[in-house]
Amino acid sequence: MALRRVGRPRATGTRYEQQLMKTILDGSMTIGVVGLGYVGLPLALEFSKSGIRTIGIDVSKEKIKSLQAGKNYIQDLDDKEVHHVVKKSKMLTATADFTACALCDVIYVCVPTPFTPNKDPDISHIVHATEGIAKHMKKGQLVILKSTTFPGTTEKYVKPILDTTGFKCGKEYFLAFSPERIDPGNQTWTTKNTPVVVGGMTPACTDVAIAVNRRVINEVVPVSSPAVAETEKLLENIFRSVNIALVNELAQLCDRIGVNIWEVVDAAKTKPFGFMPFYPGPGIGGHCILIDPYYLSWAAREVDFVTNFITLAAEVNESMPFYVRAMIEREIAKQPVTLKKARVLLLGMAFKRDVDDLRHSPALKVAELLVEDGIENISYFDPYIPTVDVHGRTLTSKKNLTAAYLKKHDVVVITTDHSSFDIDMIVKNAKVVIDTRNATKDVAGPRRNIVLLGDGK
Ligand SMILES: NC(=O)c1ccc[n+]([C@@H]2O[C@H](COP(=O)([O-])OP(=O)(O)OC[C@H]3O[C@@H](n4cnc5c(N)ncnc54)[C@H](O)[C@@H]3O)[C@@H](O)[C@H]2O)c1
Repeated sequence: MALRRVGRPRATGTRYEQQLMKTILDGSMTIGVVGLGYVGLPLALEFSKSGIRTIGIDVSKEKIKSLQAGKNYIQDLDDKEVHHVVKKSKMLTATADFTACALCDVIYVCVPTPFTPNKDPDISHIVHATEGIAKHMKKGQLVILKSTTFPGTTEKYVKPILDTTGFKCGKEYFLAFSPERIDPGNQTWTTKNTPVVVGGMTPACTDVAIAVNRRVINEVVPVSSPAVAETEKLLENIFRSVNIALVNELAQLCDRIGVNIWEVVDAAKTKPFGFMPFYPGPGIGGHCILIDPYYLSWAAREVDFVTNFITLAAEVNESMPFYVRAMIEREIAKQPVTLKKARVLLLGMAFKRDVDDLRHSPALKVAELLVEDGIENISYFDPYIPTVDVHGRTLTSKKNLTAAYLKKHDVVVITTDHSSFDIDMIVKNAKVVIDTRNATKDVAGPRRNIVLLGDGK
């Protein structure tokens, strides 16, 4: 791969580019981060920790209030570090006021990119944030969009808004797309040691964006345009969605043919090349893998192209909570209790292990389906999620999971395999355990009460 020369002022660059590059390299720049959620706050912390003045901007008054008090609200971040950069080193300040953009040399945009009820992209947060930036923009600034989105967003939606300033892109202001790869809960791959991709609107845009990313990220990979960077991010997530769908489909097949899918995947992964293990489960969730594929299939429709893999993967993955519902209702039917009266306990409500993120959680979808079927006694336990709203009913998690509480339920379902769960205790005390994650794989003793998704029984 050809890495262009970066890291010192380009002799051919405009004076704005040279000034910006200088402030980036000598560390005197001010960073702005618009959107202080799972992506924005870790990034703001990384810059402020390294001694770079950072201003966080968010529309959420609650988040700003919390940060101004030095209080962290993102699970993976160290409370003490957040407190230190706000209250001690004072390298991080937080505000809801977009006029602060005028004080920044580089502005990252890390706002949500959800979908509409019809699963079309909703880039309104990007548009609002960019309008806020444009209002207070000055010459010589760099804007880096990090929100995951469809190819063309940076060029066709963000740039025209910034162009309303009358400044010239690549000469008087700079614009790039650099997708986020953070994996909440992952202790090995962090903001610092996970390589990032950067695609600028012009070579000058790419160069300054690489230089600023290099201040806090070990490896930066340039690509030829924002659209390449936007598409590569979608490929990463679609790759996961398609492979998870494949094992989810095979799990359903294995249940019919008497083969254990977990054993199949474990055997396949002994191949040292050309195979990467993915595991079945109750469905996919979170703000990325479920949503992002739809961004590309929507963009494809505009050019009369049908993304069959994406659609098929979504169909299979989104059918999984329905499959789990059928497993639960089958187990209830074996007991002397009606659906209405059955007591079902869901273990784990977050969308994946050891995180406090409920967005699009398949466990929540399972709970909703059970309520729709008239099951009135649904409870859940999740140390990370204190309450959930299921079709207008607020459920509250127990503080502790006890043997007596497990025994009270007709069916216990492991929906999310948090590592703090005492699986032996669960299996010992529950009447029936429906395991959608293979969390019971190491249970010593008898497995008579375990019903495992995809084990072929
Ligand atoms: N969470 C992840 O693991 C992850 C990983 C990779 C990429 N992404 C992508 O990064 C983007 C952000 O995701 P997130 O998980 O951090 O979302 P989030 O909801 O946790 O945080 C977004 C923040 O933006 C704020 N916001 C919304 N509109 C705003 C506006 N107009 N101006 C200022 N602030 C505004 C919200 O109040 C919120 O605090 C999304 O596009 C997502 O797909 C997320």
